Amino acid sequence: MELEKVINERHSTRAFLKKPLPREVIEKLLTLSTKAPSAINLQPWEFTVVIGEELRRLSRTLVKRMRERDISCGPDALRPLPEYLMDRQRKLMDCILPRLEKGVNFQDFINEGSCDFYGAPAAVIVTIDQVFSKSRLVDLGIAVGYMVLAAHNMGLGTCPIGIISAFADEIKEALSIAEEKDVVMGIGVGYPDPDSPVNLASSSRVPVHEVARFY
Ligand SMILES: Cc1cc2nc3c(=O)[nH]c(=O)nc-3n(C[C@H](O)[C@H](O)[C@H](O)COP(=O)(O)O)c2cc1C
Repeated sequence: MELEKVINERHSTRAFLKKPLPREVIEKLLTLSTKAPSAINLQPWEFTVVIGEELRRLSRTLVKRMRERDISCGPDALRPLPEYLMDRQRKLMDCILPRLEKGVNFQDFINEGSCDFYGAPAAVIVTIDQVFSKSRLVDLGIAVGYMVLAAHNMGLGTCPIGIISAFADEIKEALSIAEEKDVVMGIGVGYPDPDSPVNLASSSRVPVHEVARFY
């Protein structure tokens, strides 16, 4: 598929078919993700793939902890967000909420769905060794960008999941991830459910002149 078409079409998938993902498909996706550039080619990303019953067990643990600790998906900002940024968040809700089943609360759908990787057959947990400074998170972000685009090109859906970093200890224990690694985020990966209205939600972007300046 043409790159521009992939970029324009991709959006986060929040309902997946129960169809398992073959290991070769996941390996191809990760191989494409690791084609991303990184500072002095350090390739600081590390991926742990979780599938099947192991993934559902992990999801149950995360949903339980999320409820116990009352953790919610949010901007994780250092100060209250100004109105123009709050507006972007509201617009995301506006495009998803009308597509949820009647009576489903938006925040519950996002919080519980995220901790369950929206039922995806595979989750990729992205970690980084603590030897690196925070600057190297940029490299991981680029690799995840490659991943979501490559996945779309392969007919797969993805949803980046940031909330799971709040459960780093639980994830590290469940997946035997070494103590000196930081859990940065996860990505739910699978075949998008074509009949789910929520997958038709397409979030908006502000016009480029609002985020770019030319000198
Ligand atoms: C770093 C990062 C963390 C995210 N965390 C979550 C999350 O925890 N739960 C969720 O439903 N979506 C999450 N998303 C998806 C965003 O909500 C989504 O990318 C954004 O609204 C734009 O929509 P689009 O991906 O459909 O274009 C995350 C995206 C990124 C890049």
